[in-house]
Amino acid sequence: MTELEQQLLAVQDQALAEIQTINDEQSFEAVRAKYIGRKGSLPALMSKLGTVPPEEKPAVGKTLNAVKNAIQKAFDDRADQLKQKKEEKNALDLSLPGRKPEIGHKHPVFLVMDAAVAIFRRMGFIVADGPDIDTVWDNFDALNAPMDHPSRSPEDQFYFNLDKCDYLDKNTILLRSQTSDVQIRTMMSQKPPIRIICPGRCYRRDTPDATHGMSFHQIEGLYVDEHVSLADLKGVLASFARDMFGDKTKIRFRPHHFPFTEPSVEADASCMVCGGAGCRVCKGSGWIEIGGAGIVNPAVFQNVGYDPEAVSGFAFGLGIERLAMIRYGINDLRLLYDNDVRFLQQF
Ligand code: DAH
Repeated sequence: MTELEQQLLAVQDQALAEIQTINDEQSFEAVRAKYIGRKGSLPALMSKLGTVPPEEKPAVGKTLNAVKNAIQKAFDDRADQLKQKKEEKNALDLSLPGRKPEIGHKHPVFLVMDAAVAIFRRMGFIVADGPDIDTVWDNFDALNAPMDHPSRSPEDQFYFNLDKCDYLDKNTILLRSQTSDVQIRTMMSQKPPIRIICPGRCYRRDTPDATHGMSFHQIEGLYVDEHVSLADLKGVLASFARDMFGDKTKIRFRPHHFPFTEPSVEADASCMVCGGAGCRVCKGSGWIEIGGAGIVNPAVFQNVGYDPEAVSGFAFGLGIERLAMIRYGINDLRLLYDNDVRFLQQF
């Protein structure tokens, strides 16, 4: 091997080792200039090629090319490595502010439901629960609904297995149409006195529109003891309405009919928007309906094995969506269930 070749290989060794230690662009340029820049050691050796005897030239030229290529490749590889390192570092830039995960909140229907439950609990009611799928007996029969009551129609209810079952059979099951079934379940399993509320979901085969959905929520109330009167009912609902809608809210009863109460009433609260003077929300009447109520029908007590001579009670059922619409001034019930985050974020 010629001396020039030895020098070339020595430069190659030195360059390859040094290239591995490069860690930034500045030193990259400096090392590059040192070995392959115009005044670098490799061009210096190349210029000596002219002094090599002709018979040795091919071998030395070959070595020279190999060394040049090896050093160039080492620089290219190192440049790639540094680029990749930089990208990795950027991908995990610890100085960037963190991304905040979107955190949701309770749905307006449940905000109102929770508020209503809290108010009744302060009055001494405890929360009772029942399944969404119940029997015809709990949902209709025990609640004294006559066999020909229109609400029993399969066109109005979600019955199960009607190909095999009769919708009038007490054992047929359906998605409950009201939370009043929990009155029955509770009285069947407990002795009086009873003071419960039952917040829950109900289902009816209604075509959805601005005030109807095929699924909605109610809060049911039942109070059974000795000498319970309509005045007690009015006191409880008035107290609830004041807590829910404001101090000045009043309650009025209008006569109505429900199979499970006698007498039955529809309860209105004085309009919380206009204070009773009449406005668009209350359609000029000054009053807004909040639910049905009444004195428990003795026939219901008989159905659950209570003595109607010994106890009396009141019951009520309030529509939660309705309360939410009043409380938040929502004019279309469907907005509550479209799941448009822009709408839901407002509450
Ligand atoms: N269950 C009735 C309905 O869904 C509401 C109702 C009215 C419940 C009177 C009651 C009540 O407990 O006494 O329309």
